[in-house]
Amino acid sequence: MNKFNKDYWEDRYQTDSAPWDIGEVTPPIKDYIDQLTDKSLKILVPGAGNGHEFEYLIEQGFTNSYVLDIAPSPLENIKKRLPELSEEHLLLDDFFEHSGAYDLIIEQTFFCALSPDLRNKYVEKMHSLLKPGGKIAGLMFQFPLTEDGPPFGGSAEEYTKTFGELFTIKKMETAHNSIERRQGKELFVIFEKK
Ligand SMILES: C[S@@+](CC[C@H](N)C(=O)[O-])C[C@H]1O[C@@H](n2cnc3c(N)ncnc32)[C@H](O)[C@@H]1O
Repeated sequence: MNKFNKDYWEDRYQTDSAPWDIGEVTPPIKDYIDQLTDKSLKILVPGAGNGHEFEYLIEQGFTNSYVLDIAPSPLENIKKRLPELSEEHLLLDDFFEHSGAYDLIIEQTFFCALSPDLRNKYVEKMHSLLKPGGKIAGLMFQFPLTEDGPPFGGSAEEYTKTFGELFTIKKMETAHNSIERRQGKELFVIFEKK
């Protein structure tokens, strides 16, 4: 059974134990969003927690954006912060049960939160959720993968193997603008659906 289920995550939010939440959009993802010009892109932010990346997208006029999480509390928090937003943009769902067709999916501390035995399933699910030529863009941790987590680590080598069959690795490099405590530990990635 998956230990990191809905109850596990909801409990972490209820007990105020969300150290991953930096309270704002992370700079590498902000910079990525800032150079996007097509505001009609259909964008998903899965495992978004309190959704700072999602909020930034909405603020910047990407009105076809959706936020998804398995835990209700963070979605309630987003609703309070964005009271005008139609609730159809807030998806309370298990990523692995979700269906849709997106141009872009933003990855931000979601992959690393999943049990590592779900990595291939994540890659297949991402592939199925993207339109032809659609992209995953975001941050993946680079530190050794052990049994301790979440967050669970990984490396560029591992990600090339895990994603390489279904995605073209357009970019995978150490982020130059990570927040201080994550400096050198994050890869900025763009993976394009084959
Ligand atoms: C480490 S947190 C990161 C949250 C957010 N991305 C951030 O950076 O603040 C991982 C998030 O993934 C969500 N999550 C875990 N498993 C999930 C699943 N199967 N489907 C959807 N969300 C899931 C958790 O509820 C949690 O909000």
